[in-house]
Amino acid sequence: MEMEVDLDNAAEMGRLDASGMLTVMEWFPQQVREALEIGGREVSLPRADGLHSVVVLGMGGSGISGDVTAALVSGCLRMPVASVKGYALPAYVGPDTLVFAVSYSGNTEETLECLDEAVERGARVVAVSSGGRLAGLADELDIPLFQVPPGLQPRASLGYLSVPIVCALERMGLVAGLVEKVRGAAEILDERADEYAMTSPLDDNPTKRLAKDLLGYLPVVYGSEGAPAVAAKRWKTQFNENAKIPAFDNWFPELNHNETVGWQNLADVCSRCYLVVLRAQGEHERVSRRIEITAGLISDDVGHITQVCARGANEVERLFDLVYFGDMTSVYLALALGQDPTPVTRIETLKKRLAGESA
Ligand code: F6R
Repeated sequence: MEMEVDLDNAAEMGRLDASGMLTVMEWFPQQVREALEIGGREVSLPRADGLHSVVVLGMGGSGISGDVTAALVSGCLRMPVASVKGYALPAYVGPDTLVFAVSYSGNTEETLECLDEAVERGARVVAVSSGGRLAGLADELDIPLFQVPPGLQPRASLGYLSVPIVCALERMGLVAGLVEKVRGAAEILDERADEYAMTSPLDDNPTKRLAKDLLGYLPVVYGSEGAPAVAAKRWKTQFNENAKIPAFDNWFPELNHNETVGWQNLADVCSRCYLVVLRAQGEHERVSRRIEITAGLISDDVGHITQVCARGANEVERLFDLVYFGDMTSVYLALALGQDPTPVTRIETLKKRLAGESA
């Protein structure tokens, strides 16, 4: 399949990307630094004594901040972190639960409904939003709020939506040393920015190259257990929302107990799939072996298989590196397909229809 837009032609890309998604994505390292500043702002956080769980409420581009947080703190937070994406608040949420309500717009009904319930049950709540009803409620109910800048797409705000949560957990004494790691990761991301930038030519730019290779294929993104699995979920949703194509994710070792079998039929569909395996240093040695064996088992069934290995000295750098790589790839893929990456008309139509308006 031919590229609709030349990924080395900044003017052509700029015409299609009228709202500047590429620039916002490219600017991720700077967003992470600003998010650290937001996370350090004077906000009176709940007390930490006696907490037994953390819950992050949020949907879509806001909800992924819960998965990112859970991955980042998994090595040091001594209580479970759950990402709640829906209307149902788990029964264990109560006065000993720290609840982060995350909605970029502040108007997402699932998040607001769970927040109501969390408040009713006496949970200790913190909000992250750019405005909307969530910011209004925070004001009304005296809920601490990390206010993030408005005017972006939620999915282009992952730094703003996740880093303040990490800052809050650290300020409350629940984790240690992560804020410094996030600061260090922003420096590493600066180096990646040069490599992934729109001014970096296709031959030297791995994100443009992967986007070009993915043209005409359905991406299936596998991650090894932990941070790469969360990155795989992010890649999937970014392919959906930016490039407007179906995409699927799964993770090792779980997929070895089901999906590995699922490539044996529908040869015409399987051959149109492009498998990207996300990996990171420190993955379990048996997972490494599983990836090798799985590739051997399914290589004749899928169209292509490639691997992207996270670079970075720790879990924060590696997760952000994979996220950044996928974000940039998804925007280049959108442009190569002739799609404006920004609009998500169907999400908006759906929300309007739910609200009872004609869309
Ligand atoms: C749009 C996007 C969506 C929204 C989701 C929830 O860019 O990423 O997935 O994040 O519809 O809306 P918010 O984030 O405003 O709560």
